[in-house]
Amino acid sequence: MDKNEVITNTIAYVQNALEGEGTGHDWWHIDRVTKLTKKIAEKENANMFICIMAALLHDIADEKLNESEKIGIKKVRSWLASQSVDHEATEQIMDIITSISFKGGNGLQLNSVEAKVVQDADRLDAIGAIGIARCFVYSGATSSPIHDPFIKPREHMTKEEYRHNKSTAINHFYEKLLKLKDLMNTETSKQLAIERHRFMEMFLDEFYEEWEGRR
Ligand code: ADP
Ligand code: NI
Repeated sequence: MDKNEVITNTIAYVQNALEGEGTGHDWWHIDRVTKLTKKIAEKENANMFICIMAALLHDIADEKLNESEKIGIKKVRSWLASQSVDHEATEQIMDIITSISFKGGNGLQLNSVEAKVVQDADRLDAIGAIGIARCFVYSGATSSPIHDPFIKPREHMTKEEYRHNKSTAINHFYEKLLKLKDLMNTETSKQLAIERHRFMEMFLDEFYEEWEGRR
C-alpha cells in the first residue's frame, strides 16, 4: 500500500475509534496534534510518514480508552499490520506511542527525533488557549472543581496519584501545564510554546483578579 493511502485509512480508523470521546482526546485533538506534528517535523527534518502515523495513533492505546494499556497497544499493532506497514516502521511508530505520554512527569528518555516531534506536538495542544479549554473539559468530565484555595498543587506525583487523586482545574496548571514550556524537545516547539505559555499566565492573572472580586 502506498503511504498516502495508509494515512488516509488511518485517519478514518482514528476518527471512528475516538467518536464521542469526552475527556479531551477526541478526533479534533488528534487533528490538531497531527497538524502541529507536520509543521515541527518539516523544520526538524524528521521522517514525515513515521511522525504523522504516530501522531494519528498516539491516543488509541491510551489506558483511558482501553481495558488496559496492553490491550490498547495490541490494537495499534494489529491496525498497522492490517495496513501492511513494514516491520521497521511499525517498531518506530510503536516506540513513539509507548514512550511519549506525560503521566505525572515521569518522563522516559526518547529514542528518536520523530518521538520528540510528536511528544512536543501533543504537549503544545495541552497549553495555550486550547490547553486551557481541554483542562476545564477534563476537570468537568472527572467532577473536579474549578478552583479551591484550600487544595494546594501537588509537588511530586506517582503515575497513580496523577490519575486518581482529586485535584482542581487550576492546580493542573501548576502540576503540569506551566511546566510544559521548559520540557519541549525541539527548538521549533520551544518557540511555539512561548506565546501559548504567556497566554496561560495572562489567564491565571485575570482568574485570580476575578476570584478575589478585584475586577
Ligand atoms: P497525556 O496524554 O499527556 O497523558 P492526559 O491524557 O493526562 O495527557 O490529558 C489529556 C488532557 O486533559 C490534557 O489537555 C491534560 O492537560 C488534561 N488533563 C489531564 N489530567 C488533568 C487533570 N487532573 N485536571 C485537568 N486537566 C487534566
Ligand atoms: Ni494526545
